Amino acid sequence: MLARLNIFFLLSLISIFPIPDTYAQTKKFDWLEEIHWDWSRIDYSWNNLYFPKDFRFGVATSHFQIEGSASDTQPIKNNWTESTNINLPKPFLACNHWSMWQEDVELIKQLGITDYRCSIGWDRIQPTKGTYDQDAINHYKELFRELKRNNIEPWICLFHFTLPTWVEESGGFSNEDNVEQFVNFCTKIFNEFHEEVHFWASFNEPLAYVVEAYMTGKFPPHHPQGLFKSIGGFYKAGKALKNMLEAHIRFYQVCKKIDPSAQIGIIHMFHILDPNSSYNPIEKFIAQQGNHLINDSILNFFQYGYFNWKQLIYHTNDLAQKSLDYIGVNYYRHQITRFGIWSKQKNGVIDARNNEQTAHDTGWAIYPEGLYRSIKKAKQLNFPIYVTEIGIADDTSEQRDEFIRKHLYAIQRAREEGCNVLGCFLWSLMDNYEWGCNPRTGPRFGLYQVDFSTFQRSLRPDAQGFVSYLLKQRMQQPIFNKLDRRQHLSENYYA
Ligand code: BGC
Repeated sequence: MLARLNIFFLLSLISIFPIPDTYAQTKKFDWLEEIHWDWSRIDYSWNNLYFPKDFRFGVATSHFQIEGSASDTQPIKNNWTESTNINLPKPFLACNHWSMWQEDVELIKQLGITDYRCSIGWDRIQPTKGTYDQDAINHYKELFRELKRNNIEPWICLFHFTLPTWVEESGGFSNEDNVEQFVNFCTKIFNEFHEEVHFWASFNEPLAYVVEAYMTGKFPPHHPQGLFKSIGGFYKAGKALKNMLEAHIRFYQVCKKIDPSAQIGIIHMFHILDPNSSYNPIEKFIAQQGNHLINDSILNFFQYGYFNWKQLIYHTNDLAQKSLDYIGVNYYRHQITRFGIWSKQKNGVIDARNNEQTAHDTGWAIYPEGLYRSIKKAKQLNFPIYVTEIGIADDTSEQRDEFIRKHLYAIQRAREEGCNVLGCFLWSLMDNYEWGCNPRTGPRFGLYQVDFSTFQRSLRPDAQGFVSYLLKQRMQQPIFNKLDRRQHLSENYYA
């Protein structure tokens, strides 16, 4: 994702336009400096990870990635199944979760987690403009009741990258009229489920979505590439993002009146760019502009009520600061900007420094310090924080255990330094359809491995440590004594 230097470079130039005074504070680049911990001096074993008993541990999925495009009766019509890109791999039945959901609740239960984050597809519920599919609504009702019967708290996300075809054809979120359509859908679902479901998210990663849909063209509607078309796509992305943020506020304001106790948030993908060398002004400039665009455009909106899309689109809403109960942090990637005229290496945005460990299936750098930095950044908003996704794609089942421990350590450290992180969800419950990849060969993020011919699920060996940890977590409350704390804090010295 987001690997096009040319686009970032262009956008960086756009920001040389003057900025109105009211928006001045949104121009700040307060991103934490790059850090690397000396892991050889840190004890991140399962025995040394301390979380309070009420800390929420969960797994996350999204409807389309596990349910796929078919239902019992008819194929789903959405922006992915009816994409104009005929080469785009489709999920078909994905994990066949639509039929196997009861078995899957049992698998969730066996992990020992307290919470399950999933999504409901607008495309599945409202296949045409005026009609709601009551059978589909009842299907989810059964799922949530079954989760509750098993003491698992369901979390619903109302948008995870899919749109009904009728919405996509009318311009998706780049068309302001669809804000109202989306809020109607959200309100309908909220009315149906708020008695069972306490935790809600309007959007999963709205920024990642608009970038992939309108800038890289990887997601439907696959906005075309090219110098001038990219500028058009960039403008459309900003417009769609602004509309999505407005839709969030309207959903929040309407549904909090229906049920003030509901917890409603938005989930942002924190994506960190650092310069290859802090002495190279071009690399530094591009990394700053990238961070500002990817992270600040959304965070500033909820912090100050101002939305500024690189001086091309401005928008204000005073309700923004009062329209969140939590911020969801998804974190996967740390990338490096490289630009050198004499350099023999490729210029661009690259996935890892030479010496950095990378995930087997995707080549993304394993950089838990990035999660810590993202949490610190999210803290600026002063809302409770949930880490709504962290995960690694590794079909060899060699890296997951260490990956999870290191990331939990990063959360623990941020918590000890005052960050109000209340829970963490692993991506994902099981291998699934990764956007635009063939499910039979695509990256494998699951704690459960899925055989896509038989749909058989089996727990990966490197997920076992997490399961045992959760078992212990439920049985006992570790004593966090002064000595532990001092030992831990001394690590800061090496940061
Ligand atoms: C998305 C997931 C996706 C994961 C891995 C996250 O940003 O929310 O849908 O599968 O990244 O790419």
